[in-house]
Amino acid sequence: MQPRSVYSKIAGTGSYLPDQIVTNADLEKMVDTTAAWILERTGIERRHVVAPEQSTLDMVEQAAKRALQAANAAAEEIDLIALGTTTPAQLFPNTACLLQKRLGIGGPPAIQVEAACTGFIYAMSIADKFIRLGEAKCALVIGAECVSKLVDWTDRNTCVLFGDGAGAVVLKPSAEQGIISTHLHADGEYSDLLFYPTGASCRHNPTVPDDKQHTLIMKGTEVFKVAVKKLSSVVDETLAANDLDKSAIDWLVPHQANLRIIQAIAKKLDLPPERVIVTVQDHGNTSAASVPLALDTGVRDGRIKRGDLLLLEAFGGGLTWGSALVRF
Ligand code: ACO
Repeated sequence: MQPRSVYSKIAGTGSYLPDQIVTNADLEKMVDTTAAWILERTGIERRHVVAPEQSTLDMVEQAAKRALQAANAAAEEIDLIALGTTTPAQLFPNTACLLQKRLGIGGPPAIQVEAACTGFIYAMSIADKFIRLGEAKCALVIGAECVSKLVDWTDRNTCVLFGDGAGAVVLKPSAEQGIISTHLHADGEYSDLLFYPTGASCRHNPTVPDDKQHTLIMKGTEVFKVAVKKLSSVVDETLAANDLDKSAIDWLVPHQANLRIIQAIAKKLDLPPERVIVTVQDHGNTSAASVPLALDTGVRDGRIKRGDLLLLEAFGGGLTWGSALVRF
């Protein structure tokens, strides 16, 4: 890619996790599983789950405020919100609009993107283009999800995998390198591998049984295989587009769905475990929140430093997948 005169730079990161923690031992009491199976097959030990009265909006608000504080930016500076979520607080207004009301900042565009686990990467790619075109000077980009309210807590195939949370970044224009490139993909041919059957215009989906109408459905093993294939190819695409050797990457900040998927991509990049931000053990799969939550974790604990080269990647229902190469 050609060098640019304007980059989107991450000025600050923030995140939020609900207080309630559900451990693998807790799940042993709810479904026919064992803590050892969950840990061995996924790497997950615990996940955070919202309280009944909490929504995605509550988590978004906290993550946004923390990112603004880290960026030393006032809410009034925000001139674009781009939010990735599949679990909005309401069908409409979108949750980015509802956030504006909470922050008291009406006016700027409020975009909500639905790309499942890739939602944050999609939102960041959109915000990056606004900044590079000079149409935004302070963009709030968020990934947030309340998957606990979509899953069937009696289905061991899915309920052990997910958690709730939110992560955010503030993007500002800079002459220094920031977001170097983003790569987005989707293939609706795989839409039956991972889906929620009903929506506002389809109250009853004839392709699924009555007791599965209002729950997340996933063919986990098939998703696993396609995830490794597509993530491998988007990593190759990102390196090739930037004429970069894999040894240039300082940190892999991957989607946190399954430790074995993360390890497969790290192996492809020849990255040792200490160069990969892994939060899946503590967060489970938080869908669109997983990448910004991992990023914020790595930044706040001091591992990710200014100037480091990061490869962000994600994969989710759609199927959707994507990556971002970022100079932090
Ligand atoms: N406890 C015990 N056994 C279980 C459990 C459980 N919680 N869940 C499933 N099993 C059983 C299955 O019933 C199956 O049994 P069977 O062989 O008798 O039919 C068996 O375990 C399958 O096990 P594995 O062969 O180990 O399956 P696999 O290695 O594929 O692991 C898993 C399953 C963890 C679901 C994995 O496939 C996975 O992580 N898939 C990817 C999920 C993902 O990445 N989703 C991404 C996007 S999410 C989004 O977009 C919202």
